[in-house]
Amino acid sequence: MAWSLGPIYNAAMLIRKAPDIRYSEVTPKSLYLRRREFIQGATGAAAAAAAALLPSRASGQGGLPKLPNVRKSAYSTTETPNDYDDITSYNNFYEFGSEKDEPQFFARRFVTRPWTVRVEGLVTWQGMYDIDSFIKPHALEERIYRLRCVEGWSMVVPWVGFPLANLIKRLEPLPSARFVEFVTLYDPSQMPGQKVPILQYPYVEGLRMDEAMNPLTILAVGLYGEVLPNQNGAPIRLVVPWKYGFKSIKSIVRIRFRDTQPRTTWAIDAPNEYGFYANVNPNVDHPRWSQATERRLGEFRRRRTEMYNGYGEHVAHLYTGMDLRKNF
Ligand code: MTE
Repeated sequence: MAWSLGPIYNAAMLIRKAPDIRYSEVTPKSLYLRRREFIQGATGAAAAAAAALLPSRASGQGGLPKLPNVRKSAYSTTETPNDYDDITSYNNFYEFGSEKDEPQFFARRFVTRPWTVRVEGLVTWQGMYDIDSFIKPHALEERIYRLRCVEGWSMVVPWVGFPLANLIKRLEPLPSARFVEFVTLYDPSQMPGQKVPILQYPYVEGLRMDEAMNPLTILAVGLYGEVLPNQNGAPIRLVVPWKYGFKSIKSIVRIRFRDTQPRTTWAIDAPNEYGFYANVNPNVDHPRWSQATERRLGEFRRRRTEMYNGYGEHVAHLYTGMDLRKNF
């Protein structure tokens, strides 16, 4: 995605590393760790003090609070999930930096409690909801999903969450609601990336109502059985596994039911490159690169990308009769 930066960034782009290579893969570990110290230092003594208060990693994958009563889901892939460290250190979260290894550091002090989600638009139960009461009615499931990024890499992630459909049913949309729009927090004081004019903020995404109601679509609140790390979209983010990763919007503060298609962040940035549907499709190339193959994080050889990221049996019917070259 960083490829679509404006001309002002072109010089910097020329010396960028390939987008699917981790900083830690091309950098000796000692240097990498020193850079970590540097970034910690740069964010000040307060950050170091806050880091010292974080629970030790020994208690779990990330040392974050465990989520209780998580049941397994039949929708999970049997493929092996990527390591916790990979999933939490190779992130796209532009609000916290446009390099993959930046969000893990710059989101460290991100405050996710208290947190409210505003529900508005064409829906019966409009209002401001405290995040914990918002999540509480829903049984949590582990959903191990493939995530295919539009940039050409993929990973397998054991999310914890619940079907978006369950929430939508409780909120009772009006019959005129045809789309759902999601908005990320806008707070440049916490999100340094929002001070840089790479994208228009707040980040906005959207789904057609039938996509939102599909049983594969979830709101994720956890990862590897624990609370979601900040860099992965705490406290609540969308996950739509048959679409390119940019549809899976993070750190949601607003859900709006609409009768018109929302204008979404990447489509505003480059409408000819990032469509509203963004279904994973190896037959429709991105204007500047092929989408036929992908590199799974942790693997060397590229693998073939599957139509709808391999979830066609659950979602292909949503698009019958549509020209997927026009509706990319
Ligand atoms: N949500 C917000 N608010 N900001 C972002 O920059 N990046 C998207 C998506 N959600 C993004 C976002 C992209 S491009 C991808 S691939 C996924 O988040 C990455 O999710 P992950 O970091 O948890 O793997």
